[in-house]
Amino acid sequence: MDVEKNFHMKGGHDETSYSRNSSLQKKASDMVKHITMETIQEAYTSTTPEILSIADLGCSSGPNTFSMIRDMYRTVEEAYRNTLINGSKSPELSSVSVYLNDLPTNDFNSIFKDLPDFINQEVISKNEQGHFRPSLFVAASPGSFYAPIFPSNFLHFIYSSYSLHWLSKVPPGIYDEDGKSMNKGCIYISESSPPRIIVAYSQQFRDDFSRFLHLRSQELTKGGRMVLIFLGRETPHHFDRGNSFLWNLLAQSFAVLISKGEVEEEKLNSYDVHFYAPSKEEIEEEVRKEGSFKLVRMEMFQIEREGTNNVVSYGMAVASTVRAIQESMISHHFGEHILDSLFNTYAQLLDQEMAKQEIRPITFLLVLNKI
Ligand SMILES: C[S@@+](CC[C@H](N)C(=O)[O-])C[C@H]1O[C@@H](n2cnc3c(N)ncnc32)[C@H](O)[C@@H]1O
Repeated sequence: MDVEKNFHMKGGHDETSYSRNSSLQKKASDMVKHITMETIQEAYTSTTPEILSIADLGCSSGPNTFSMIRDMYRTVEEAYRNTLINGSKSPELSSVSVYLNDLPTNDFNSIFKDLPDFINQEVISKNEQGHFRPSLFVAASPGSFYAPIFPSNFLHFIYSSYSLHWLSKVPPGIYDEDGKSMNKGCIYISESSPPRIIVAYSQQFRDDFSRFLHLRSQELTKGGRMVLIFLGRETPHHFDRGNSFLWNLLAQSFAVLISKGEVEEEKLNSYDVHFYAPSKEEIEEEVRKEGSFKLVRMEMFQIEREGTNNVVSYGMAVASTVRAIQESMISHHFGEHILDSLFNTYAQLLDQEMAKQEIRPITFLLVLNKI
């Protein structure tokens, strides 16, 4: 399946949209926001440009996109004011440019519909009240982040949250010579996956991540910084209760639909996700081997369980989050008609499992300075 053409978060603002089902990602990125903001301040003070250029890679659409722009803009403005107070002779910060990147099928329209109100609130009305604020420009930069997106030496800060666990494609190594997946009955690495499946996923991550680092190092200016937040795994073992278990439960939900005659077995056998949760060691090794960045900070943290509104169960809340992310791929492969049945089953399995033991996805935060 062509990821670039078919993969996108559920757009718009309806009940099943990413915009309404992304509070888990927001909560998690907020847990490390102080590090992101500290790093953007450093990016500004080590470069002090007239126009500060920031990119958010895998921005999606909805409140998370805007809250990140707001936080980054306010932090840079404060860093600029501090340089003035400290009597620095650095040039005036005239503007902050934010480049929103995602795959071309992302719902950029809904972002740009909400943008005028946001800019008015954040910048124009403040300037009218006599508080000078640098101009804020927001532009879209569609395309895969596994390809060049910006000119050389263009950006001062790169941010990416909950996006880099998505590979550029399903690893070709999982298919046999007839093009059939050798990971039958599974959609990601599971306990029953043959070893070659693990090798194929791990290799795809290494190739993609190394390419990503190389491309970004060209796009960042000297002194530029990067904050990357993405899912990973706690130990070198591939089957964990954090991430692979969630995919396993989704595969079990498909199996329930097969038993009811709602999905053909062959369809499940030919469906695999382009996802990978790397370990700390795999990440560190690729950063070292690629050689363009110094890894100045690496944190591993667990996403805390969210309180729900008691109207829906916790399993249903997690199922809705996964649905907003996976709906485009699943409906392309299996058809839209299975979505409600699939995700209701998934919510039930999640509730049953979580009653036994917590499932806590693992996240990494990386701060990388261009060498
Ligand atoms: C779960 S969303 C995260 C959105 C937002 N950053 C947040 O924290 O809520 C992941 C985003 O990464 C995007 N993405 C995945 N692979 C990508 C790629 N190769 N290039 C650009 N964007 C990609 C997806 O389309 C999706 O919008």
